[in-house]
Amino acid sequence: MDAGNNAIAAASFAIVVLVAAAASSLAAAVPAVYVLGDSLADVGNNNHLLTLLKADFPHNGIDYPGGKATGRFSNGKNFPDFLAENLGLATSPPYLAISSSSSANYVNGVNFASGGAGVFNSTNKDQCISFDKQIEYYSKVQASLVQSLGEAQAASHLAKSLFAITIGSNDIIGYVRSSAAAKATNPMEQFVDALIQSLTGQLQRLYDLGARRVLFLGTGPVGCCPSLRELSADRGCSGEANDASARYNAAAASLLRGMAERRAGLRYAVFDSSAALLRYIERPAAYGFAEARAACCGLGDMNAKIGCTPVSFYCANRTGYVFWDFYHPTEATARMLTAVAFDGSPPLVFPVNIRQLAAM
Ligand SMILES: *[C@@H]1O[C@H](CO)[C@@H](O)[C@H](O)[C@H]1NC(C)=O
Ligand SMILES: *[C@@H]1O[C@H](CO)[C@@H](O)[C@H](O)[C@H]1NC(C)=O
Repeated sequence: MDAGNNAIAAASFAIVVLVAAAASSLAAAVPAVYVLGDSLADVGNNNHLLTLLKADFPHNGIDYPGGKATGRFSNGKNFPDFLAENLGLATSPPYLAISSSSSANYVNGVNFASGGAGVFNSTNKDQCISFDKQIEYYSKVQASLVQSLGEAQAASHLAKSLFAITIGSNDIIGYVRSSAAAKATNPMEQFVDALIQSLTGQLQRLYDLGARRVLFLGTGPVGCCPSLRELSADRGCSGEANDASARYNAAAASLLRGMAERRAGLRYAVFDSSAALLRYIERPAAYGFAEARAACCGLGDMNAKIGCTPVSFYCANRTGYVFWDFYHPTEATARMLTAVAFDGSPPLVFPVNIRQLAAM
């Protein structure tokens, strides 16, 4: 090997070491991720439920390592996978997959997210683990950590850990699909206020149980998911759903800002999933997508009438699609959005991004 090659080898070695060091210093700063939320973050909890809201069958997982359907509502990895990867950690396991074991280890993070879950208990009632129920499960995990590590150590571990929360889309979809009569007695402003009132208590409970680093992923532009486009003759986005989402995200951000001012040690980042994802939907080609309206996997008009099942059609080129099925993003979309949340800047992620949150 000549000197030039040695220099290149040394340089690439140095880069490998630097990248590894950067990832491991984040992992040291954030020892674990605790995930709560809905199908955007479910990594297999619903596999353990008697529910229609499942994704543990093909063609889900077609691009996951081994081509395996894991319960992720995606062709491949989803947001918690990319979050963990960026932090240099392993993906936190589904609570229901580990909680029955007497030697369950909760120190490396746990995922409570469940497809169909909403802020309200009534959203997809009995079809998922409601957000309140997820918090109840988390309280058991917290108690178990106190028992195994001791009070002070458990508190310090949880304070450094990242609490990633994605919740609200299913409530909004339920509201938009409700009857005109129901909406007449519950105008959108009132509906969003009720969501935020519930969220206030839920975030407070998480804080009381030790959460100090909170990543809140706002709801996406749910009106543009293929299923809601189907509601209109021109297949345009549902303005009503996008409006609800924008209001909810703004109110959730101001709730967190207020909480952080008054609650010692609380640090947070809000990711505006709506604004971030709308960029891909409005200018797909600029972001490397060929199709931002139709779902890759499904049946019927725009593959949006029926979800992704073993008999559904699926597209050949999954990296060209924004949406995997009638509600969920593809792995490609989730990877790109997580990268923005990780290293992006206001107004898409604020007041800090995930990398900064991990260092605070
Ligand atoms: C929602 O369910 C939880 C139990 O999972 C319960 O403690 C709570 O009171 C319920 N909230 C409402 C508004 O019914
Ligand atoms: C898939 O689609 C993307 C976006 O249109 C394109 O850049 C890429 O080359 C395609 N890949 C294949 C294998 O056709």
